[in-house]
Amino acid sequence: MKFFIDTANLAQIKEAQELGVLDGVTTNPSLMAKEGITGRNNILKHYVDICNIVEGDVSAEVISTDYKEMIKEGEELAELHEQIVVKVPMIKDGVKAIKYFSDKGIRTNCTLVFSCGQALLAAKAGAAYVSPFIGRLDDISTDGLNLISEIRHIYDNYAFETQILAASVRHTMHVIDCAKIGADVMTGPLSAIEGLLKHPLTDSGLAKFLEDYKKGN
Ligand code: E4P
Repeated sequence: MKFFIDTANLAQIKEAQELGVLDGVTTNPSLMAKEGITGRNNILKHYVDICNIVEGDVSAEVISTDYKEMIKEGEELAELHEQIVVKVPMIKDGVKAIKYFSDKGIRTNCTLVFSCGQALLAAKAGAAYVSPFIGRLDDISTDGLNLISEIRHIYDNYAFETQILAASVRHTMHVIDCAKIGADVMTGPLSAIEGLLKHPLTDSGLAKFLEDYKKGN
């Protein structure tokens, strides 16, 4: 399973990259705003800065909701860097835009996906990634992981090449459960990735090894 980090914070992206397990980055307009990145030129520059830190795919989201505007915006984003994947919302014009981009060889990430039907449409339109938001489903008492399982089943039935990018991952157990189910990618905060490191027996075992080494030296 690929690990993407879901942030626009350059320090956290660097930290995850230095850990050596990072495969890409996802951003969204809220994450950009959180870092104080505003204004078109600053936003475009920030995407390039992110691409220069990581080796993998970097999702950059369109703001337009109109087909023609999405095409214009997406083409501009795709021109920025070869690592850019154009993030397009799951709306009618978005599906048309994904098909257009797919025909042109521009890779897309279909975002704000909350149902199997939406995931099926994204795959048929040729999205490179589909992003079901599992945390936001959990927030409204709906099983987000179950959606990942169902999409996995549907995509496997027809050998769709669209990768399932489990998004809105909130914690380490989400990461582990997504791996068990067979999500192709997960995107989450640095804390969810670093949580995988932790085990009290590792800490106590290491402390004992170091203590015993000191006794003998
Ligand atoms: C996905 O690409 C989104 O940026 C993200 O995962 C949304 O997560 P949230 O529900 O924690 O805001």
